[in-house]
Amino acid sequence: MILILLGPPGAGKGTQARLIERDYGVVQLSTGDMLRELAGQDSELGQEVRQVLEAGQLVSDDLIARMIADRIGREDCRNGFLLDGFPRTLVQAHLLDEMLDRKGLTLDAVIRLAVDEEVLVERITGRFTCAKCGEGYHDTFKVPRVPGVCDICGGTQFTRRSDDNEETVRNRFAAYREQTAPILPYYEEKGLLREVDALQDIDVVADEIRGVLGEPQAAAAAGA
Ligand code: AP5
Repeated sequence: MILILLGPPGAGKGTQARLIERDYGVVQLSTGDMLRELAGQDSELGQEVRQVLEAGQLVSDDLIARMIADRIGREDCRNGFLLDGFPRTLVQAHLLDEMLDRKGLTLDAVIRLAVDEEVLVERITGRFTCAKCGEGYHDTFKVPRVPGVCDICGGTQFTRRSDDNEETVRNRFAAYREQTAPILPYYEEKGLLREVDALQDIDVVADEIRGVLGEPQAAAAAGA
């Protein structure tokens, strides 16, 4: 199964991607995570990427395409993969088509997480992540069961992203509106676009996505 999760910053792409990965056994490929790892490196490229992320702009299509092409060629993508944060421009959508064509692969669905932009600032500025296993939390919507302790791995260190401040978030929304939203009609024309109301509770959104993809076992039996 090859999927794309599309939606503006804070729509819940990372949250739902982790649930899909768990339930359907497809690997989550987050270009944001890959870039944050690069940005943490003490190199010229690391520094360049860090500046772009902190400005809330997009890195070059060329860099992203090389990262994805390398990543989808690895062994763990054999059962499929879920693209979280890619493609983000029409050029990237075309580059993805070329990559899949070369490998004889086809895209199964593009799931759009539909949201009201105003609600998202609260989601983004309230989120934090377990430093050990990467599980995502939120100050209001998803707190750990035991305060200060990760539900999944028991870790006690948490991190917040440096691009989750209001000014950068506004720039990220602008980048989404201007560069990413125009790719929706591209996938609609191909008959691949599915829309889910992502302003509902996390579990309800997950149920709706299951409705789109089919129950995990049935999807596996169908060879997806
Ligand atoms: P990226 O990491 O992809 O960030 P983003 O698209 O801005 O999306 P977020 O990660 O902020 O939000 P999300 O939709 O994953 O929401 P989440 O699940 O965390 O990209 C970062 C940067 O990298 C970009 O700005 C760009 O510079 C660069 N980049 C990345 N890909 C690129 C590309 N292809 N080309 C060029 N540049 C690229 O949820 C948010 C919070 O809300 C969480 O706390 C969560 O617990 C909570 N929440 C989730 N769902 C719900 C719900 N239903 N109800 C209540 N709370 C919820």
